[in-house]
Amino acid sequence: MDKIRIVGGNALHGTIPISGAKNAALPLMIASLLTEEKLVLENVPRLADVALLQRILGNHGVDITTNGKRTGDDPNAGQTLEIDARVIVDTTAPYDLVSRMRASFWVLGPLVARMGVARVSLPGGCAIGTRPVDFHLDALRALGADIDIDGGYVLAKAPKGLKGARIVFPKVSVGATHTALMAAALADGESVIENAAREPEVADLADCLVKMGARISGAGNATIHVQGVPHLRGARHSVLPDRIETGTYAMATAMAGGDVLLAGARPDLLESALDILRAAGVEVEATNEGIRVRRNGAGILPVEVSTAPYPGFPTDLQAQLMALMTKAKGRSRITETIFENRFMHVQELARLGAKIHLDGDTATIEGAERLTGAPVMATDLRASVSLVIAGLAAEGETLVQRVYHLDRGFERLEAKLSRCGAEIERISG
Ligand code: EPZ
Repeated sequence: MDKIRIVGGNALHGTIPISGAKNAALPLMIASLLTEEKLVLENVPRLADVALLQRILGNHGVDITTNGKRTGDDPNAGQTLEIDARVIVDTTAPYDLVSRMRASFWVLGPLVARMGVARVSLPGGCAIGTRPVDFHLDALRALGADIDIDGGYVLAKAPKGLKGARIVFPKVSVGATHTALMAAALADGESVIENAAREPEVADLADCLVKMGARISGAGNATIHVQGVPHLRGARHSVLPDRIETGTYAMATAMAGGDVLLAGARPDLLESALDILRAAGVEVEATNEGIRVRRNGAGILPVEVSTAPYPGFPTDLQAQLMALMTKAKGRSRITETIFENRFMHVQELARLGAKIHLDGDTATIEGAERLTGAPVMATDLRASVSLVIAGLAAEGETLVQRVYHLDRGFERLEAKLSRCGAEIERISG
C-alpha cells in the first residue's frame, strides 16, 4: 500500500490550484439519473470517489465518457464528464458498491422519482459515526414513496410517481437535502423543504437542476421551494471549487509558514474558516485570482471553535484545524457537533507529540513547541490530511500510511504541496 513521506520544516511558497469540489461533484453526477438526456459536468476532480461513483452509475446502465489527458494539458484542470442515463437497465445499487462510499446511497431518490422503483443497499457504518439514513427515507415517504427495508436493502416504490409535499428535517443533513431536492424535482406538485442544509454544494446541485429544467427557489437558504416538473433535460454545468480543499491548504500554509496563493478558490464559500484563521494570526486576503494565505514569523494563536452546519465552521475542516492548533501558543478548544466519533486523528497526532485531551465532544489542545515525525495511520479522509499538515511542521520524517483515504478526496496532494517547497513524496508499494 502506498505511503506519504514528509520531512517537516519547509515553509510553503507559491501557488496551489484548487480543484472542483468532491462533495458537489458526487450529487451532480447522481442527478444525471433524473434525465434521459446528456448531462455534461466540467471541473470534476480526478478522485477515487468520483471513479467509484462512475462504476456505480455504470451498474445502473449510465454511460460516462471523459476527456483523456493530452500532452500540454494543464495537469490541474478538472475533467469533463459526459453522462448519459438514457436507459436505466438496473434499479438496484448493490451492497458491495454502496458499502464503499456512503454518498452512493443518494441514487435512491432520483431512481425512485424517475423509475418508480429503486432498491439500494443500506450504506452501513462508517469510521466517523453511525450516520443513519432515516431523514432520507422520511423525505421520500413524505413524497409518497412506499419504503421497505429487507435483507439490508431499502426498497422504495412509487409506481404512480412522487407527489409534492412539505418535508421538515429534524436536523440539518446535507445528503438528505440532496435526496429531497432531486426527488421533489420530478414529483407532481409543489414541495417545501424546511430546515434544509445551506451548504454551497446543495446550492450547486440546485443550480444544475434548474439548468436541467427544474423549478427550484431558495436553495442555499433553510427553506427551499420546488415546483415539480414531469421531465428534466440535459445541461452543462461546472462544479464549484472545493472549499474543504481550500481550507485544508490554507491551514497547511498557516502550519508550515510561508505565502501561498490558493488559485481559483472562492473566499465566500468558507468565510467562517477564514475568520478562524485570521483569529489564529494568519494573514488571509481575497484576491482576483483566489485567496492568498501568509504567515511569516508570527506564531499561531489559540482559538475556540465548534463545528456547525454551513455557514458555521465545517466538520470537514475540524481535523485540519486541530493539527494547526497543536503548534499554537496556548490552549485551544474544538467541539465537534456534527459527528459523534470524528476524533480518530487525536491518537495519531499524539504520536507526533501533540498534547490533546478529549472529553466527550470537545478536544482541548495544549499547543506544543515541537512536533516530531513518526509513522502514523490515516483513518478517514480528513483525518489523514490533518496528519499531513502536522507532518509539514514536525521535525524529521512522518510516514502516513493507508493513503487510499487521501486519494478519495485530495487530487495530486503531494504534487501540489511539493511544488510549493514541501518535502513530500508518495512511496508506492
Ligand atoms: C456530507 O455527508 C458530506 N459528504 C460529509 O463530508 C460532511 O462531513 C457532512 O455532509 C456534513 O457536512 C458528502 O457531501 C459526500 P449529513 P452527509 O447527512 O450528507 C445525521 C467528507 O469528508 N443524519 O449532513 O452524509 C448524521 O449522522 C465527508 O468529505 C441522521 O441522523 O452528512 C450527522 O450527525 C465526510 N440521519 C448529521 O445528520 C440521516 O438520515 C449530518 O450528516 C442523515 C444524517
